[in-house]
Amino acid sequence: MDEQDWRLFIAAYHHAHPGITEQLFTLADTSPYAWLAEPLYGIEGPVLDLACGSAPTRAELSDADWVGIDLSAAELAEAARRGRGPLVRAGADALPAASASVAAVCAAMCLPVVTPLPQVLEEIRRVLRPGGTLAALVPSRTGLSPSGIRGWLRVMTALRAVRQPWPNPRARDGLAALLRDAGFRVRSDERRVFTLAIDSAESAALLPDALYLPGLTPRRAEAAKRSLARWAASGRRLELPLRRVVADLPIEQPSQELI
Ligand SMILES: C[S@@+](CC[C@H](N)C(=O)[O-])C[C@H]1O[C@@H](n2cnc3c(N)ncnc32)[C@H](O)[C@@H]1O
Repeated sequence: MDEQDWRLFIAAYHHAHPGITEQLFTLADTSPYAWLAEPLYGIEGPVLDLACGSAPTRAELSDADWVGIDLSAAELAEAARRGRGPLVRAGADALPAASASVAAVCAAMCLPVVTPLPQVLEEIRRVLRPGGTLAALVPSRTGLSPSGIRGWLRVMTALRAVRQPWPNPRARDGLAALLRDAGFRVRSDERRVFTLAIDSAESAALLPDALYLPGLTPRRAEAAKRSLARWAASGRRLELPLRRVVADLPIEQPSQELI
């Protein structure tokens, strides 16, 4: 899938499923958004939530000078419906913020999907003030137990899918290295395995909707939901490994001539 096709797919997908990532994460044992927001508590200055979707981090950063940006009007409408704001419709590759004006960028579940990633990282660097912080939450491919692997095999078999076609696959477990290459100083790179409670047909039905699967037809999605509804059971858990990377924009050192 080329970049243009991906952009068309992701626009249609979020139009059809606004707030889907947040809905899926309500099944988690503890909030991945609270974990993401932790390093940003008490931060002084504007916090830009990149590709904010339905803006689940807004409540986690209730005292912050927060602004959410997203390209999807439907996602922003869902955020507004939940009383969250301020919100701006914009692309992550052309941020509506002045250079060096932002104290922190919060990026929940978006760096593997926003394109073109090099330009997005350049924009994050541009808008962050020196010493500013980027906190990012991304999916991880590692950390599943044998039963976690069996759980995902069950889900992907129901969907007849092998994997999701991330446009930026390196921005998952390779995110820390990617950020170092882009000139950030990585402060921490941690993985945590959350568990989703798949204990009802309703919770199971979120899985086909929450995965990026461009080839998934409505008919196959419905069949997968029926199959996963039969699998759902009291106590059924699906592991979800996530990675949190916290990085700072270095404060420029004065050059030798100026000392
Ligand atoms: C997986 S969702 C995450 C939403 C939210 N951050 C969360 O964690 O619930 C990815 C979001 O990225 C947005 N998005 C995708 N490409 C974008 C781009 N180029 N610029 C801005 N937003 C984009 C989508 O509209 C969607 O809301």
